[in-house]
Amino acid sequence: MRTIVTGSSGLLGRHVAAALTEAGHTVLGLDAAPAPAGASWQHVTIDLTDFGQTMQLVRDAEAVVHIAAIPRPTGLPPVQVFQTNMAACYNVVEAAVLSGAKRIVYASSMSVLGYPFFEQPVVPTYLPFDSRHPVAPQDAYALSKWLGEELVQSAILRRPGLSAVSLRMPWIQTPETFPRDVVERRRHAELVARDLWAYLDARDAGQAFVSAVERPLQGHHRMFISAADTFMETETQALVAAAYPSAEIRKPLADHATVFDLSEARDVLGFEPRHVWRDY
Ligand SMILES: NC(=O)c1ccc[n+]([C@@H]2O[C@H](COP(=O)([O-])OP(=O)(O)OC[C@H]3O[C@@H](n4cnc5c(N)ncnc54)[C@H](O)[C@@H]3O)[C@@H](O)[C@H]2O)c1
Repeated sequence: MRTIVTGSSGLLGRHVAAALTEAGHTVLGLDAAPAPAGASWQHVTIDLTDFGQTMQLVRDAEAVVHIAAIPRPTGLPPVQVFQTNMAACYNVVEAAVLSGAKRIVYASSMSVLGYPFFEQPVVPTYLPFDSRHPVAPQDAYALSKWLGEELVQSAILRRPGLSAVSLRMPWIQTPETFPRDVVERRRHAELVARDLWAYLDARDAGQAFVSAVERPLQGHHRMFISAADTFMETETQALVAAAYPSAEIRKPLADHATVFDLSEARDVLGFEPRHVWRDY
């Protein structure tokens, strides 16, 4: 399938572009940064906040995978994060609609729940989280990810032949990033509770995006994906009891299980995370 991957030079996007190419799709990567060394896909350097540039490159696509964004609200003025993410998402979704693409896959985030960048504490209503759990974005980044899902939803309402998947992900990790990002942070209980102790191996993310492009679907499916376990040594029940004691536990959180209900991703995409940090 002729597939656009935005953000294909970034941490997640390069894994997704590689996985789609490996699966036999014709991938055109669009990113403000040059293609990474050894990229197996075609690349165009582009500013996705410019609608003309975006339309010109998306127009022949059968599937559009939108990953490009500023992935956090820190380090830049929040207004820049919000405006960049919203403008890019609007342009890519609009170009997908106008070009007659059949599938949009959107890189959403667990941040739609409010974690980890909330200003006022957010408490889970119930666990494990599924797509019916209330959203509660507070910061500019989380808000942009949630409103991005709503842009995708509006596209589906406009074009009956178009279907979409929004993948809500926790912290993306690889064997190289994990020791740098997570190992020291694990010592800070309050910080890692904000992270929901959750991660997703970039290779498992890549496979989820391939399924989200390929699976026959109708409508717009929003779902959480994550590693099967948490990134912690402590068992999940004990973590939850200490950080979020009021959360209703609707399904057992055995051993080191993730706080995300993966059954929706399993049912819709056949998603089975294979990688765990203990093998890194
Ligand atoms: N990293 C995570 O832990 C995480 C977790 C959940 C969701 N996500 C989402 O996944 C996506 C990718 O995150 P990442 O960690 O790979 O980020 P990243 O910063 O490594 O990659 C993002 C890419 O988007 C590109 N980009 C940004 N603005 C652009 C623009 N205006 N025009 C063209 N390209 C632009 C950047 O150049 C970069 O290569 C984001 O949408 C993010 O919200 C990330």
